[in-house]
Amino acid sequence: MTAGYVLVKKSRPLQGVVDVYGAKNAVLVILTSLILTEGVSVLENVPNNADVRLMMQLLQELGAQVSFDAESKKLTVDTFGICRYEIRPDIMNKMRASILVMGPLLARFGKARVALPGGDLIGQRPINYHLNGFKKMGVTTSRKDPFVEADLSRIPQGPTYTRVVLEYPSVGATENLMMFASIGQGQVAIINAALEPEIFDLIDVLTKMGARIQILPGATILIEGVARLNPITHTIVPDRLEVGALLVSAAITGGNITVANAKPDHLDIFLEKLSDMGHTIITQRVENSWQLAPGITIKAAHRSRATSFKTCPYPGFPTDLQPLMMAALCVAEGISHVEETVYENRMIHTQELAKMGAQIAVNGTKATIRGVEALYGKDVIASDIRASCALALAGLVAFDQTTITGVHHWQRGFDQLEKKLAYLGAPIELIEDHTSGQESLPKIQILPS
Ligand code: EPU
Repeated sequence: MTAGYVLVKKSRPLQGVVDVYGAKNAVLVILTSLILTEGVSVLENVPNNADVRLMMQLLQELGAQVSFDAESKKLTVDTFGICRYEIRPDIMNKMRASILVMGPLLARFGKARVALPGGDLIGQRPINYHLNGFKKMGVTTSRKDPFVEADLSRIPQGPTYTRVVLEYPSVGATENLMMFASIGQGQVAIINAALEPEIFDLIDVLTKMGARIQILPGATILIEGVARLNPITHTIVPDRLEVGALLVSAAITGGNITVANAKPDHLDIFLEKLSDMGHTIITQRVENSWQLAPGITIKAAHRSRATSFKTCPYPGFPTDLQPLMMAALCVAEGISHVEETVYENRMIHTQELAKMGAQIAVNGTKATIRGVEALYGKDVIASDIRASCALALAGLVAFDQTTITGVHHWQRGFDQLEKKLAYLGAPIELIEDHTSGQESLPKIQILPS
């Protein structure tokens, strides 16, 4: 963790063309999927943020060799030397996504010993769906604090068919179970699976490795286990959440920007809500960018109108864009209603937005926002990655300056987002303070660019 802060001043309307890096939430799981292979894989368009670096460190702890060219965003991982199936609690506790090693370790070693990842401020975030699914697939789990030990000692004789019905389409549980099922003799059907774009990116990776995976009606993912999987080369799917952040930055400042390398079909409902607010959204291909790629242009209205939504699993409104959209609604004309259905406690940012002059009434997981003409810069605290972004976006329409502490959340989730916003004209800076020496940076081999 670093001290430091994000400093934001009131902005003119943002203008220009920017592109986005690969999705953090796709890279994290794809990195764990490499445990299923033995050899050298190459990932392109990998964002250089703290969560991704931590996952690289975790793979190194297991015995992999990792080199990352932070400039070209190219990551090379040699998984040949992976020889451990235990993750130290101090690494597990830093990042919830570390639980995603469990499926691949079970597939590779028949065993996994991992500490519980723990909850966080946005919610309890238990792992019961993961563990129940593993159990259905023949894994025995036991708690030996601080570890969960998982063991596949009852290796099924001959081909089997297992039906795992998820009580809720959990992203992490779908990913973990799918990776585990990819190696083996039987067929596994995951029913009521999550189908987020990051899951499709993982399916793409597993298929390149040689896995046999089909998507069937009823949000069912059918996996037929194979004997072994092979290393791959893969370009990570663009980060729809970074796209969302950039589009809201234009919406909130009344700007006109194009986000290249953005996939509109990953953001349907979010784009519809931006249109409802009076903004013009154009989906197109962009020339003169670093490559020809689909893009999204927003021509923002002078003043947004209120809109209402509730968060849902994909293709619904993404919970990770809820705080950002909330920032925009704080200065929209009229009354908006927002309901959070994914996390029981993802309204903490409303308290900080209220300090800036927003009029928000929260009742449990529901918020009513009465749009105001202006916000006022204050010292505010980020409670998670998306809250840090929401507060920075609110700072772009606030008089004076906004200082956002809890900056490690920003650094966990974004790679130079502040520089992209500044390039579009936003007065925003990330002020880092490494004198606290709190962050223990992983010793990843960083290649010269
Ligand atoms: N849940 C359970 N039991 C489980 C698993 C999940 O009760 O075994 C609950 C969670 O507590 C939560 C809900 O189900 O309330 C959804 O959790 P899910 O498993 O779908 O989420 P996740 O895999 O833990 C990923 C992203 C999150 C994103 C969610 C929802 C990664 C690394 N994280 O988390 O991203 O909010 O899906 O889309 O992929 C972020 O990037 O800021 C972030 C929090």
